[in-house]
Amino acid sequence: MKVPFLNLYAQYLEIKDEIHAAFDDILQRTAFISGKYNERFEKEFREAIGAPYCLATSCGTSALHMALWALGLGPGDEVIVPVNTFIATSEVVSLTGAKPVFVDHDPETYNIDVTKIEAAITPRTKAIIPVHLYGQPANMDAIGEIARRCNLVVIEDACQAHLARFNGTMVGNFGRVAAFSFFPGKNLGAYGDAGAVVTNDESLHETIRRLRVHGGIERYIHDIEGHCYRMSEFQAAVLCVKLPHLRRWTARRQRVADMYRGFLDGVEQVTLPSVLEGAEHVYHLFVIRAPSDRREELRSYLNEQGIGAGLHYPIPLHLQKAYARFGHRLGDFPVAEQSCREILSLPMCPMLQDSQVEYVCEKIRAFFSR
Ligand SMILES: Cc1ncc(COP(=O)(O)O)c(C=O)c1O
Repeated sequence: MKVPFLNLYAQYLEIKDEIHAAFDDILQRTAFISGKYNERFEKEFREAIGAPYCLATSCGTSALHMALWALGLGPGDEVIVPVNTFIATSEVVSLTGAKPVFVDHDPETYNIDVTKIEAAITPRTKAIIPVHLYGQPANMDAIGEIARRCNLVVIEDACQAHLARFNGTMVGNFGRVAAFSFFPGKNLGAYGDAGAVVTNDESLHETIRRLRVHGGIERYIHDIEGHCYRMSEFQAAVLCVKLPHLRRWTARRQRVADMYRGFLDGVEQVTLPSVLEGAEHVYHLFVIRAPSDRREELRSYLNEQGIGAGLHYPIPLHLQKAYARFGHRLGDFPVAEQSCREILSLPMCPMLQDSQVEYVCEKIRAFFSR
């Protein structure tokens, strides 16, 4: 049996006719930029998240970058980010000229450790970017409380957590502004790069609207300098087709996660992901832990059995060459360093068959009973 890490082709087959009809429509009208699909997607995504404003962007990175840019962050400012995330979260801080300041993660949920945030705050700290990693909301009660007390702006990185909720509120509604990614493998994925910014702040929304297209709303009139960060109509069309299926696909991810939990229950060497009280996890990734001295062997064994497994992420940010300038060393963020040696992402997507989930778990059991 083959169990790919992600099966986008099977998903495409489910929606093929609608996708082809939308692409054909765009081609017939040769309306490739800022057309009706962008408008429709912004409205429908805003409604899905329950946020007042939404802007479609070229990717999640540009969405985050514009959020920080519009907030006026820049040289001399510090922004707190978790040390275990995709590098885009910290890259956008540097893009504004501000400094990313890393905080270790919680060993149970892999999200930022809220008990370690305050020690990282200095008089220069202006903002915090909680990441809802792997599809699980960060502890937004604790983060919101620290942000209020220390006067920090909260920018949510919701790139992996479409439709996730914390205490009943959907992610994207906790911070001043939030960014989503629609990279193809995300829970809601386009057929190329795409993203969105959502906010409840009208003036921020207006600034980002300008930043997105060279600083102006009217063509060749530039109120400020901006960038070219808009979404292609083809990507917006894919997202319009996929959005109505997102709830069902999310429920299937949650069902797959339950099945993994059931079938792996009692495998002593495997640690299953924990869910924070009040959090609704949408399982962008299903990340287990295995003893560090056997993780690589397990990964190769699964690959030999036709099972795709990934590492998210193999090196924590403070040890990446890109951040050598900060002078961090092994031992600075011990929890994330240990997790990196143990984590393994199992296949996860709504198209996984029950029999495939069962097969993955059987092989994990077989590995540990050898
Ligand atoms: C946590 C996180 N932040 C930001 C991004 C950036 O999104 P994009 O790849 O759409 O630019 C991603 C996507 O990979 C992500 O997973």
